[in-house]
Amino acid sequence: MTKPVYILNGPNLNMLGKREPDIYGAQTLDDIAGLCTARARVLDLTIYFRQTNDEGELVNQVQDARENASAIILNAAAYTHTSVALHDALKMADIPIIEVHLSNVYKREEFRHKSFVSPVAHGVICGFGAHGYELALDAAAKLI
Ligand code: DQA
Repeated sequence: MTKPVYILNGPNLNMLGKREPDIYGAQTLDDIAGLCTARARVLDLTIYFRQTNDEGELVNQVQDARENASAIILNAAAYTHTSVALHDALKMADIPIIEVHLSNVYKREEFRHKSFVSPVAHGVICGFGAHGYELALDAAAKLI
């Protein structure tokens, strides 16, 4: 059986729905998890969907994915722009990595233009809101 696709979410994404809805949309993270579950079913994939506000925990989840996942879909949120630890952990994972952002980070503040995830990701999907997660699952299905 194919290993699950890990869908990992970083800090403040637990606040989706309440957090700057003009930028991130009205959907909650639970709504996005529901979308992913439905899309995964169509693609005949299983998912493991997690969120943490903690950088070390996100690194632990990436290390876990390295052993137990078929691919990683990662919205590292603010850690995207800051975390060398996350970059190093991702570099060790020999599976497809797809970086996702709800917003188009390149249309926003300059500090969001730098990503420590992109250099170790297969590809990046940003600016499509929650639909980006479904697009990432489609990409994962092709890459696995
Ligand atoms: C985000 C973009 C990041 O710059 C920001 O820190 C987030 C969310 C996005 O999904 O658009 O928390 O990753």
